[in-house]
Amino acid sequence: MTPQQLQDLAEAYRRDGFVHAKGLIPAGEIAALTPAVDEAVATRKGRDTRALSEKTPYEQSFIQCQYIWEDFPGVRGLTFHQNLGEALGALLGAGKVRLWHDQALYKEAGGRETEAHQDHAYWPIAEADTITAWIPLTPVDEVTGCMGYVPGSHQADLEFVDIFRAQGQGEALVARQAADPVFCPAEPGDVLFHSGRTVHMARPNRSDRMRRAYTAIYFKDGCTRGGDRPHPSVDRDRIPQGGRIAGGATPVAWPLADGRFPEPQPWPESQDERFLRSRAMGTIPGR
Ligand code: SIN
Ligand code: NI
Repeated sequence: MTPQQLQDLAEAYRRDGFVHAKGLIPAGEIAALTPAVDEAVATRKGRDTRALSEKTPYEQSFIQCQYIWEDFPGVRGLTFHQNLGEALGALLGAGKVRLWHDQALYKEAGGRETEAHQDHAYWPIAEADTITAWIPLTPVDEVTGCMGYVPGSHQADLEFVDIFRAQGQGEALVARQAADPVFCPAEPGDVLFHSGRTVHMARPNRSDRMRRAYTAIYFKDGCTRGGDRPHPSVDRDRIPQGGRIAGGATPVAWPLADGRFPEPQPWPESQDERFLRSRAMGTIPGR
C-alpha cells in the first residue's frame, strides 16, 4: 500500500472504528494459505460429529478454533503477513504490533447470526489499542454471513454482552447505538479491521456452504494487563495485573525480526476445568 492509502485507511478507521481494506493481500496468496486453515479446523474439530441443531446457540454462530498458528505452521503466512502488519501499524499508530490470538470462525450452512458485541469486554487488556483483522477465505455477503459494524461505536461505552450463554443481548446493544450497522460484503484478499470497542455482528449463513473466515487480534506493543479476567494470552506468560503484555503467547507480529515468523511456546499443563474443556473441544491446541 502507498503511504497515502495507509493514511486514508487510518483516517476512516479512527472515524468509524472499522475499515474495509480491499485487496490488501493478493487473492492468490489467500487461496494458497486457505487449506492450512481448513486443515486446522478439520483436525481440531474432527471428533465433533454433532449436527448444528445439537449445538449451543453460541456454537451455532460459528465453529471456533483459536491459536491455530501454533499447531498449524502453514497458517503463519496469514497471521504474520507483512501487508497486514503494515496496515495494523498504521491503524494502531504503532511502530510495533503484537498478536493477542488468532482464530478460525467458520459459520456453518444454516448457522445463526453472530450477535452484536464489543470484543474488548472479553479481554484483560487495559488500553484501547486493540484491533481485529477479519479475513474472508471465501466471498461473504448478506446471504453467507458478512460482518456488520456500527460506525462510531468505538467511542461509546464498553459493554459486556454475554454472547456465550444468553440470547438477545446483542439486539438490545444495537438498539442503544446512535447509528445503524453497516454490513460489508467482502472478497478473499480483502481484510476488514475493527477496533476492540466497535459494536459488530454477522449475518446468519442462509446458504448451503460454509462461510470460512480467519481472524486475528492484535494490539499495540506496550499494552498492559487490566482486570483479573483469566485469559490464556496473558496467563500462559504469567503477566501480572498492570504488567506489560509481552511473551511467547503474544509475539511481535510486525515488524518481523529478519522476516522470520515467531515460534510458538508449549502450553503449560493445567487442571483448570475451562482449559480442559476448551482443549477437548478443539478450541485451543493440544488434543
Ligand atoms: C463472525 O465471524 O461471525 C464474528 C466475528 C467477530 O465477532 O469478530
Ligand atoms: Ni467479535
